[in-house]
Amino acid sequence: MAHILSTSCSFKTSTSATPYSKTSNQYSLAHPTGLTFRTSIYSLKKLVSHGKRPLRHLTVCATTLSMSQESQTEPTSGTQDSQNESSKPKRVMVIGGDGYCGWATALHLSNKNYEVAIVDSLVRRLFDHQLGLDSLTPISSIHNRLRCWESLTGKNIQLYIGDICDFEFLSETFKSFEPDSVVHFGEQRSAPYSMIDRSRAVFTQKNNVIGTLNVLFAIKEFNDDCHLVKLGTMGEYGTPNIDIEEGYITITHNGRTDTLPYPKQASSFYHLSKVHDSNNIAFTCKAWGIRATDLNQGVVYGVRTDETEMHEELCNRFDYDGVFGTALNRFCVQAAIGHPLTVYGKGGQTRGYLDIRDTVQCVELAIANPAQHGEFRVFNQFTEQFSVNELASLVTKAGEKLGLDVQTISVPNPRVEAEEHYYNAKHTKLIELGLKPHLLSDSLLDSLLNFSMKFKDRVDKKLIMPDVSWRKIGVKPRTVTT
Ligand SMILES: NC(=O)c1ccc[n+]([C@@H]2O[C@H](COP(=O)([O-])OP(=O)(O)OC[C@H]3O[C@@H](n4cnc5c(N)ncnc54)[C@H](O)[C@@H]3O)[C@@H](O)[C@H]2O)c1
Repeated sequence: MAHILSTSCSFKTSTSATPYSKTSNQYSLAHPTGLTFRTSIYSLKKLVSHGKRPLRHLTVCATTLSMSQESQTEPTSGTQDSQNESSKPKRVMVIGGDGYCGWATALHLSNKNYEVAIVDSLVRRLFDHQLGLDSLTPISSIHNRLRCWESLTGKNIQLYIGDICDFEFLSETFKSFEPDSVVHFGEQRSAPYSMIDRSRAVFTQKNNVIGTLNVLFAIKEFNDDCHLVKLGTMGEYGTPNIDIEEGYITITHNGRTDTLPYPKQASSFYHLSKVHDSNNIAFTCKAWGIRATDLNQGVVYGVRTDETEMHEELCNRFDYDGVFGTALNRFCVQAAIGHPLTVYGKGGQTRGYLDIRDTVQCVELAIANPAQHGEFRVFNQFTEQFSVNELASLVTKAGEKLGLDVQTISVPNPRVEAEEHYYNAKHTKLIELGLKPHLLSDSLLDSLLNFSMKFKDRVDKKLIMPDVSWRKIGVKPRTVTT
């Protein structure tokens, strides 16, 4: 069946105080600082039936190219093999599939013969426009990415563009795609972004908490057998002075023993949104029998996966700036352009890290081995721990081998966090399911550095230093010009 639809997307600056503005055939979504994202719905009308109620701020689009692909010839990962059900591919909805982890995961699952749909509001691209940021790597539009993927592999990934905080939109995507699993990456994921100003803090918590609540309600309403795989973060736990367990801890108190959720000590409005999500998911598992896996992910590094390497149009984003850049990626870019590595404070901050190739593997393992009904399963998704100082020293050594002169400076820590602390987090459950980690070897660091050097002309040095302070956050909206 061929669906040939298209979206037309434009960015518009709005001074309107109304949260949602609407013209005769266009619907706009409100985002911080008055920018609106506008998408035409002309092309949707054929595909998605919206029932009798008028659309409000709904943005829906399913874009797929013609697809004549028939059933797979070989049994593969995405295929259900049961006596009653003959080789029907499992259907996975990847929310946030245009983002860093989501794009790599959507391609990986499609390559493994899952039937994949991406749901994304493209708000991450809007953040870049608002803040004057850009990925180190040139990234294609989601439409070109998907066309390229289909022309290379013959595999079709459906696309639904819209905001999951809009329940009508999300309902239509659920009814249209009928997922067996939902992988939920679709959140505002930067701690510094959530600490820029009041409006970004509020946006982050609204976007993340309401989006996840809507996903839970959609699963309950449309298919309570659907397995939710939700991306949480190791940052939910904070840095306690005891070992971090995977989700739960057994405590004996005044002679009585119980296994309880591991205490959470989040340290930004972003991390707190993840804690709120985890609580909401745990509650709905108990109350409604939802089956869910919370993947408390560490910091992800790297850019290449088997699938994104197939063509430059499939290239993933790579953030190096002070707002979205994660530690190791940022250090590699700094080393490549001769900028000192910026260690925040004493540099003893220790976290779990993983290669993006392991992110996609972990998600696949979680889907293939779903949680039971009513089970709120928690996996700590990382492969190695490093302090910031250890990372800086690894990048320095790898840079020297490539002839780079790598310096490190300590900059005042913009965050409120322990700079020297105990850290020992468990991470065995995904290994038990079969994860084969890609550890941070010399060769990987070489390739990350070479990759950063390849695109070094695209680096804007002004974006590197941190300028979001946890202590100075105020109510006044910060725009790119202030
Ligand atoms: N990147 C990391 O190092 C890392 C570490 C730990 C956890 N995580 C988690 O993994 C997930 C993905 O992270 P990422 O680095 O790929 O982020 P990203 O910002 O690159 O991707 C998120 C995607 O979700 C979309 N999105 C956001 N809000 C949405 C909404 N309301 N409706 C529809 N789409 C929406 C964005 O447009 C974007 O494409 C996040 O939940 C993040 O918290 C990431």
